[in-house]
Amino acid sequence: MKLKRISVKSSLGNYSVIAGAGTVHRAAQEIAKLGRFSSIHVVSSTKVWRALSKSIQRGLQLPGKVHFHRMNDGESAKNLRTAELLSRVLVKSGADRKSLLIAVGGGVVGDVAGFVAAIYLRGVALVHVPTTLVAQVDSSIGGKTGVNLPEGKNLVGAFYPPRLVLIDPELLRTLPDREFRGGLAEVIKHAIIADAPMFGMLEQNMEKILRRDRTALGLLIPRNVAIKARVVSRDERESGLREILNFGHTFAHALESVTRYRRYQHGEAVAWGMIAAAFLGHELGLTRTADVSRIVALIRRLGPLPGWPQVPATTLLNAMRSDKKTRSGILRFVLSPRIGEARSYDTVPLHVVERVLHFTPRLIDASAGPLGKYRG
Ligand SMILES: NC(=O)c1ccc[n+]([C@@H]2O[C@H](COP(=O)([O-])OP(=O)(O)OC[C@H]3O[C@@H](n4cnc5c(N)ncnc54)[C@H](O)[C@@H]3O)[C@@H](O)[C@H]2O)c1
Ligand SMILES: [Zn+2]
Repeated sequence: MKLKRISVKSSLGNYSVIAGAGTVHRAAQEIAKLGRFSSIHVVSSTKVWRALSKSIQRGLQLPGKVHFHRMNDGESAKNLRTAELLSRVLVKSGADRKSLLIAVGGGVVGDVAGFVAAIYLRGVALVHVPTTLVAQVDSSIGGKTGVNLPEGKNLVGAFYPPRLVLIDPELLRTLPDREFRGGLAEVIKHAIIADAPMFGMLEQNMEKILRRDRTALGLLIPRNVAIKARVVSRDERESGLREILNFGHTFAHALESVTRYRRYQHGEAVAWGMIAAAFLGHELGLTRTADVSRIVALIRRLGPLPGWPQVPATTLLNAMRSDKKTRSGILRFVLSPRIGEARSYDTVPLHVVERVLHFTPRLIDASAGPLGKYRG
């Protein structure tokens, strides 16, 4: 299959994303085009390396010495200590300003290694080789890097664009099923906010996609890369348009936070969040019943979700209000007036949000069929 080359605009320099089966075999060739580096440092995790070292090492037949560093990629290790440890390992292995850092892994490796690339000697070159679906269609594109604090997720970070992103869907073969399905939630999100034809394609091909059919993924992944690339190229610093990527996420973050990040894989919380956002759009007279039904039905084909937390709606509402993005006190919701379009709204009455938080689990859980009792 032909490789797709997608260009991303960034204030610190534009970069290419190359996507398609076999991309990793061209890694050395593509990296060589970036120029000469004094040393090359591949950062990955033990788990990723166990699954993928053969394919990656074959692709990274780079000239000169390549150093391999491993970090813990548990979400709990996405912190300043890991960033410090990695920086110190770089010093010990002689990395200087002309070194290249290659992040091979999921969003955790990408965010931490990306952050270190931004701050080590005030910035060294960075290449992403994402190995989860989330990382391939989302986190490796757009230049957001960072780590968590005990006070909250992603509170310390930098916008730091990579020089190149190499996306090979073949690397997803070894990804655990739950991670893969979680990533598909973000794919559905892209379809809802920006690509109605892709939504139709997902409806038609979900079984194939869940089987990780090569052709289906070969089409789907570059298309999602293009959506993310287009949005972040137009609004790198999230002053407007980029916000639409948060569709379902105001709800999702609240669900994750009240369950202390233990119950859901992020994509599962986003799946619930998108259902709630569709209901909210409908309650406000914005999203049509037929679209709500299609959204709910497609999300449910991802498989069963961990249950909605048994807490009062007000607890979730409070969690939303303490989210870092709503510190100003105004709750913003991304809503979809029709599949393929989304916009951010900051005038949603709280009692409507509360009602949606109350009835969403009742409608969805009570149902054996895909739509629950929801008929608008
Ligand atoms: N920077 C951004 O714009 C952005 C966007 C979305 C998410 N994120 C961040 O990304 C993180 C989540 O990333 P993720 O969903 O990619 O998961 P992850 O990095 O936590 O990886 C999930 C699990 O899959 C394993 N794994 C990764 N690739 C594998 C492979 N090919 N085969 C087998 N196992 C593999 C990992 O070792 C890990 O156990 C969160 O910290 C989130 O905040 C950042
Ligand atoms: Zn997300």
